[in-house]
Order: sequence, then C-alpha cells, then structure tokens
Amino acid sequence: MGKSYPSVSEEYEVAVDKCTRKLRGYIAANGCGGIMLRVAWHSAGTYDVQTKTGGPFGTMRFKDEQSHDANNGLEIAVQHLEPFKKQFPIISYGDLYQLAGVVAVQVAGGPDVPFHPGREDKDEPPKEGRLPDAALGTDHLRDVFVKAMGLSEKDIVVLSGGHTLGRCHQDRSGYEGPWTRNPCIFDNSYFKELLSGEKEGLLQLPTDKCLLKDPVFRPLVEKYAADEDAFFADYAVSHMKLSELGFAEA
Ligand code: HEM
Repeated sequence: MGKSYPSVSEEYEVAVDKCTRKLRGYIAANGCGGIMLRVAWHSAGTYDVQTKTGGPFGTMRFKDEQSHDANNGLEIAVQHLEPFKKQFPIISYGDLYQLAGVVAVQVAGGPDVPFHPGREDKDEPPKEGRLPDAALGTDHLRDVFVKAMGLSEKDIVVLSGGHTLGRCHQDRSGYEGPWTRNPCIFDNSYFKELLSGEKEGLLQLPTDKCLLKDPVFRPLVEKYAADEDAFFADYAVSHMKLSELGFAEA
C-alpha cells in the first residue's frame, strides 16, 4: 500500500522549504490562490492510469499544453511561478506546480496537504482532452476521475470542494463568477452553497450541480456541508492523491 518516495538531496529539501515560505507570502499578497490551485490540478489531472502518461510532471511549462482549451488562462499561473523556478532552479517544475497548489490551500486557511518532493519533469505534454468538461454530468466525471485518473468516487466530491477558492472568468472558460462569497478563503462553503441552491452573484457549473442528483455523491455533499472537519481531513488525503498521480508508484 505505502508509496516509496524517492529521496532527494539535502540541498533540494532546503530549497523546497525556502520556496514554500516564499510562495506563502507571494500567494497571500497577490490573492492568486485560485489560479495556483487550478494549475496544480490541471497539471496532475491529465494522468491516465492505463497508459501511465500525463500527470504532475511539469509539462504545463510548455505552450502546447497551456494552449489546450481546458487550460485557458493558465499561462498566467505559469508566469507567476517562473521567478520561483529561477530562484530555486533545483526544484523540478512538477514539484513547483504541485507545491503551489498545496500552499494555495494552506494560506487560504485550508488543511495541510502533505507534500513529497521528487517528481521528475517529462518532456512530452499529454494529449489534449483529458480534463473534465464543465457542461457534462456524473457519467463524465466518473469516466475522467475514476476510469482515466484512477481516483475514487469520493475523491470526485471532495476535490470538487476546491471550488471554494477562486472563480470562473468569462474570457477563459465562458463561465463567470465565484462559487462562494469568500473566494480567497478555503472552507466548506462550496458544499453549503451547492446544497442551498443558486443565488445571484454566485455560480454553479453543471458538473457541480450534478453532484446533488447522484445517490453516491449527494450524501457526501451533505456530509461536508455539515462537517468542515470531515471535509478538511478527506480533502488533505484526496488532494495528496491527485498531486501524486503516477508518482512514487511501486
Ligand atoms: C469536477 C470537475 C471540474 C470541472 C468541470 C471544473 C471546471 C472549472 C472551470 C470551468 C473553471 C473556471 C476557469 C476560469 O474561467 O478561470 C474552474 C476553476 C477552478 N477550478 Fe475547477 N473544475 C473541476 C474540478 C476541480 C478540482 C478537482 C479542483 C481542485 C481541487 C478545481 C479547482 C479550481 C479552482 C481553484 C478554480 C478557480 C481558478 C481561478 O480562480 O482562477 N477544480 N474549474
């Protein structure tokens, strides 16, 4: 069961530690936690368990991957992170993008997601079309998260709670607005808003709303709306799994 993580040099560990501190300050000061979490997720979420291709291995640095439809706007995240790569060149892009996602959750008041360094960068971006389409429903979410990425049904609901941070931008995805009233705070408000229905000024994507209609997903939405501690505990586990798809596998 347990993963065996690669060991990194002491110099690498020190760099990760320093970079974590710098990222905390930067993300808090710039309010860019939303796009940092999105770049981490879109990097990792391309993993395909059958072919063992894609995943959190730094390929978002390539314009080719940034230009995938689902990644509209993520060149901004890559640009935010480039000075960190310059300052800490020893850190792989794969680690840097995942570290940014972990720190974004933490500085917004969310749980501490464990971070293990040592991802080696790949040179080939994954094929386009692996990330979910917000206009679709539960069958599609199962195809992407469970069949392709190898995650669980529970992970789908837990990770959808990442929409507690940030917002949609008309010019990036065609959708507009935040999911919650405090999009810089990581809490369980995504689930509370989802359960209590649509409201002026807030947004729910079809892939968010479909969670309410599914007999497996809905009880989890209800649980996380009622119990933030349960959400935080499960989120830390699911986010770590996402950030380590294809990494350190036996
Ligand atoms: C379940 C399938 C998912 C779909 C269909 C989806 C779709 C979207 C869309 C359309 C946007 C708007 C992008 C923009 O216009 O800027 C967005 C933003 C975002 N997504 Fe998701 N998402 C999904 C899952 C996730 C997961 C698993 C996470 C992380 C755990 C996540 C984190 C975010 C964040 C933080 C933003 C805000 C970005 C910003 O503020 O710039 N999403 N998502």
